[in-house]
Amino acid sequence: MHSFQATSVALLSLLATAYGQTFTSCNPLEKTDCPPNTALGVANYTIDFSQNTMSDKVWNVTARPINYGDDGAEFTIAQQGQSPTVQSNFFIFFGQVEIIMKPAAGQGIVSSMVLQSMDLDEVDWEFIGGNNSYVETNFFSKGNQTDYGNAIWYPIEDPQNTWHNYTLDWSPEKLDWIIDGNVIRTLKYEDANNGLKFPQTPCDVRLGIWAGGDPKQPQGTIDWAGGETNYDDVPFTMAVKSLRVSDASRGTQYVYGDTSGSWQSIKILNETKPIPLDGNNSASSSQTVSQKWNGLPQTTKYIVIGVVCGVVGLAILVFAFCCIRQRRAGKHERLLEDAKYEKMQGEVMAYRADMNRMRNDRKMMTAASVEHFSPVSPMMGNAGAAFHGQASPMMGGGRSPNQMGYGYAGGRGYQKY
Ligand SMILES: *[C@@H]1O[C@H](CO)[C@@H](O)[C@H](O)[C@H]1NC(C)=O
Ligand SMILES: *[C@@H]1O[C@H](CO)[C@@H](O)[C@H](O)[C@H]1NC(C)=O
Ligand SMILES: *[C@@H]1O[C@H](CO)[C@@H](O)[C@H](O)[C@H]1NC(C)=O
Ligand SMILES: *[C@@H]1O[C@H](CO)[C@@H](O)[C@H](O)[C@H]1NC(C)=O
Ligand SMILES: *[C@@H]1O[C@H](CO)[C@@H](O)[C@H](O)[C@H]1NC(C)=O
Ligand SMILES: *[C@@H]1O[C@H](CO)[C@@H](O)[C@H](O)[C@H]1NC(C)=O
Ligand SMILES: *[C@@H]1O[C@H](CO)[C@@H](O)[C@H](O)[C@H]1NC(C)=O
Repeated sequence: MHSFQATSVALLSLLATAYGQTFTSCNPLEKTDCPPNTALGVANYTIDFSQNTMSDKVWNVTARPINYGDDGAEFTIAQQGQSPTVQSNFFIFFGQVEIIMKPAAGQGIVSSMVLQSMDLDEVDWEFIGGNNSYVETNFFSKGNQTDYGNAIWYPIEDPQNTWHNYTLDWSPEKLDWIIDGNVIRTLKYEDANNGLKFPQTPCDVRLGIWAGGDPKQPQGTIDWAGGETNYDDVPFTMAVKSLRVSDASRGTQYVYGDTSGSWQSIKILNETKPIPLDGNNSASSSQTVSQKWNGLPQTTKYIVIGVVCGVVGLAILVFAFCCIRQRRAGKHERLLEDAKYEKMQGEVMAYRADMNRMRNDRKMMTAASVEHFSPVSPMMGNAGAAFHGQASPMMGGGRSPNQMGYGYAGGRGYQKY
């Protein structure tokens, strides 16, 4: 890629924005007052991205988004214009960088792992999405972009679908590129123009994906990236499972002692606090919910599953119990209602019966009185009889029944007496 940067100023600036590797906020080859580089300072910083997310104390996400899934940290181009990238906030001054990853498929898609220093020393692993059988190794020194003859491609088996261990082992004497424990390339200090172009200043760690084949890129870049990217094929995902970084110089800060850019000029300071790390080097690392779950010991998972099942089961039981009880209560209420209704009905019936009886009684009485009255004769007869009887002694003498006496007796006998 840098060979083409050299061919075009426009391309150079484009790649600078896409990649940042030709840009530095303060170049110690030109200035003596550049801020110190924060050191990693530990021998074994590890982070497993299937278990932890990058904290922003340790990592600077320079282009979003980075997602976390089963494959760890996922750098995905989901649409044109995306180029998810992170760089470490720490620097190492020699040491090791080990990355377990799978580059993205996709024509024109570039997956990369880079070490870069403030004076633009650089060490690269690069993959071209359209080529699933080669990896590019490369390096640069002191920002010399015209020195484009350092790239070497190496065959590798199905990197897009197979986890491989890409390790750099870097010392003042040599730089090794190692795949799965096999050293595929060694750059010796003396072989790099007698050390003049050997990467040797404190470097940060960068991971990212970008579309070298974007139609907006210059033709040289598109060609280098293996052709134009077809965005109908998105998403393009580079997956980083885990990372281990070892800083050979155990300082807390690194400072350029002069503008030579030589490793001997670098000062290792210990005055400041070490950078607060994440991953396995910190108990307070951040995790996604699924990472938290995956991180639980098996027995805890069983307990949690048990408790959750218990709670759910209990909830179902309580729910069922409530339903049954409500139904039972409903039934009970209905029964009560029925009983009440029946009772009322009974009372009504009884009342009606009473009423009937009373009516009947009254009828009877009426009937009786009618009997008394209508067959006036018997009543009268009785009365008359009685009266008669009475009257007889009384009237015995009055044997001569006159109309008045009769009438009078009849009236008296029926009405009041
Ligand atoms: C560094 O960490 C790796 C992974 O956790 C472990 O296997 C290795 O033993 C560690 N090395 C040192 C020197 O602590
Ligand atoms: C982090 O620690 C856990 C538990 O100790 C271990 O299983 C895992 O492999 C470690 N990850 C790395 C990247 O060292
Ligand atoms: C993160 O990177 C951006 C762009 O390179 C830079 O402006 C910013 O200062 C960095 N932040 C930190 C905390 O390093
Ligand atoms: C992959 O890249 C290598 C090295 O440049 C090249 O020899 C090979 O033909 C490429 N394969 C494909 C499929 O493009
Ligand atoms: C940059 O690299 C080229 C090619 O190796 C070399 O000719 C040139 O002298 C270098 N420039 C500097 C400033 O070292
Ligand atoms: C990756 O390769 C390096 C170098 O060979 C080795 O030290 C390290 O243990 C390997 N890591 C894993 C996880 O296998
Ligand atoms: C800081 O510590 C490192 C490693 O212990 C040592 O090599 C270096 O000289 C120390 N720097 C200072 C300024 O004390």
